[in-house]
This record gives sequence, structure tokens and C-alpha cells, in this order.
Amino acid sequence: MKKIIIANWKMNPKTSREAEILARGISEAAKNSKNCEVIIAPPFVHIRAVRSVKLGAQDVFWEKSGPYTGEISTLQLKAYGVSLVLVGHSERRALGETNEEINKKIKAVLESGIKAVLCVGEIEKQKEVAFPVIIHQELKEGLRGINKSLLKNLIVVYEPVWAISTHGKADSPKNVFEMSVLIRRELLKMFGKKTAFSIPIIYGGSVDEKNAADFIKYGRVDGLLVGAASLNAKKFIEIIKRVSEL
Ligand code: PGA
Repeated sequence: MKKIIIANWKMNPKTSREAEILARGISEAAKNSKNCEVIIAPPFVHIRAVRSVKLGAQDVFWEKSGPYTGEISTLQLKAYGVSLVLVGHSERRALGETNEEINKKIKAVLESGIKAVLCVGEIEKQKEVAFPVIIHQELKEGLRGINKSLLKNLIVVYEPVWAISTHGKADSPKNVFEMSVLIRRELLKMFGKKTAFSIPIIYGGSVDEKNAADFIKYGRVDGLLVGAASLNAKKFIEIIKRVSEL
């Protein structure tokens, strides 16, 4: 299976011109990599500017159309060729997004045929390896009532909040491996073995060109979610290259 590398640009860059230049810089490396699937999730306003690379989105609303000022639907994203949507990023949860809302979004995304990337992770660093209750809830409530047949388009990101570059330092590949096993076990309890093993689990949190390959090699995850380092074409290309070389 190809490794999934998602760039989460958050609320950057300022102009579509900058977005276009950044995306163009990345597009060749993205196309040349045979074993990586590279997706950029820009802010909605830059979606057109990023068309040289596979497109993702950072959020979505669950209704298809109607009186929802400020929201964007899966239909609209599809019309722009968006193939993947991040759902439940911790920065959105911090703004008040609930597991119930996340569940509605995941359902809408999967039903539309777009890939849904459910973000889960604990807020504080743990002293010992145990499965955090918060991740249990994020998975259970976020994926409640979802038809098993739709889960082939689900990706889970383990992204501990404390490891995001604006909060602290990256997790260790060893811990990422252990947490991904615990997440997989939880998915197994919820959906059975076959489905659980078909869901890619990726890691996010201060991924850069120096640690990217180790998360894949020793953390044994199926891909990476990259924030800050994805806004620097040189660094992001190096991440793609190092993962491609594995
Ligand atoms: P970071 O962000 O790579 O800057 O830590 C990752 C994310 O929040 O998705």
C-alpha cells in the first residue's frame, strides 16, 4: 500500500499566488514518488490554486446544501476534485467541535465517496503507555453508526495535541507504534478484524524531514500528517523523498 502524506496548511499562506507557487514546487516530487500518495489540504479559498497536486480539505459541513451561512458541503468539495477531508482536527475541537458533529461530518464525507481522515489524540503527554480515554471516546463517538462498507475510505490519524509543533515536540516512533497498535485494537473491537486491518493509521505532530522516515520505519504507520513543514517546499519535498526511499 502507498504511504499517505497529507499536508495540512491550516490558515496559510496569505495569498493564492503563494499557494500556487508552493503547490507547484511540491507537485513534481509528489508525482514522481511511486510509493507515496501526496495530498495537500489548503484553506478553502486556495483550492483552485493547488490543483497541481491531489487536493484535500481541512473541514466540511454535513448537509449537502441549504441555509448554512459560512459552511461548505461535500458536493461542493467534490466539484473541485477534493478527494480527502480532515475531520475533527484538534484545532477545530479546541474551537468547540464535538464528537457528535464530527460523527455527522465523517458520515457525510464517507457517503459522498470522499476519503475521511479522522483525527484523534490525547491532549497531555502520558507518563505510561495506556490507551487514553479521550481517544477511545473520539473513535467510538466519531465512528458511531457508520456503515461498515463505507470504512474502506476511512483513515485515522494519531495526532497527540502535545506533539503538534505549535505546542511542543514530536512523539517518539516507539510510542507512535504502541499507540497505533492500541488504536487498531479499538477498531478491531468496533468493526472486526478484516475492517480494522484495512483502515490506514497515520501519525501527525511535528513531522519534519529529519524524523519522517523513522515514523514510517519504526513507528510502522501508514503515512503522515504534516503541518508546519508542509509550508516549506524544500522540507516537504525532502519528507516525500525520504519516505519514498524506504
Ligand atoms: P505540525 O502540525 O506538523 O505543525 O505539528 C500537524 C497538524 O496539526 O496537523
